[in-house]
Amino acid sequence: MLEAMTVKDIQRIADEVAEDWADVNWVASVGSTNTELLATGAPGSVLIADEQTAGRGRMGRQWVSPAGSVLSLSALVDAPTTDNLGLASLAAGLAVADVVPEAELKWPNDALLGGKKFAGILSEADLSGDTPRVVVGIGINVAWRAADLPVTGATSLNLEGLDVDFDEFTIDLLRALATRLSQWREGDPELMCDYRTQCSTIGRAVRLTRASGNVEGTVESVTDGGEIVIDGTAYSAGDVTHLRPAS
Ligand code: BTN
Repeated sequence: MLEAMTVKDIQRIADEVAEDWADVNWVASVGSTNTELLATGAPGSVLIADEQTAGRGRMGRQWVSPAGSVLSLSALVDAPTTDNLGLASLAAGLAVADVVPEAELKWPNDALLGGKKFAGILSEADLSGDTPRVVVGIGINVAWRAADLPVTGATSLNLEGLDVDFDEFTIDLLRALATRLSQWREGDPELMCDYRTQCSTIGRAVRLTRASGNVEGTVESVTDGGEIVIDGTAYSAGDVTHLRPAS
């Protein structure tokens, strides 16, 4: 039988990551951890939910996150400037790869196992106050039955033979996230250096779907600003609806 994955001891998780995250909370159910944390959290806080009833993905897509199947968490941080806000997402994708070393990183921040997506990142900025804030939301498929997966091309840690202890995994992820977000906030060049090493999209022939016209070509690199470079031209993640292998 498939074991439902959920937080066992939130206090222990909070204690273990207290150096990096001042306030770590868990709720059984919420619309979206990103929305909730942006509305109610302070920088340095984390919200973990068993179930999201209105989980959101990139480009206005839905992110299905039933209880027991997904690690859904959001972390709120101050941003040093409004420059390079998008890099917070890439940093979070790298944090996922740090704790799932078998993972491939597909630009900008999907984490794949065996070519299928098991984790996604949605980061959102709030520029309304004096200091810009960014909420970084991470959804990781941890325990699914194959037949229940909500979209084709998806997978889950358990389906790829990776059985994790939920609390330990969450602690490791929050520590890795803190490290990668610090690199982002400090403008540490190692962040994008490590990203380029991990990103399996570099070197591939791809097709970008964009509102302003599709692009096909070979990915040369990812810039320090997180843009993908195809045949000499850089494209930013916000303009790209889909990135697929070129046919
Ligand atoms: C994507 O791949 O399109 C991004 C998915 C991001 C999902 C996470 S789950 C926690 C946080 N809350 C949300 O509503 N979305 C993000």
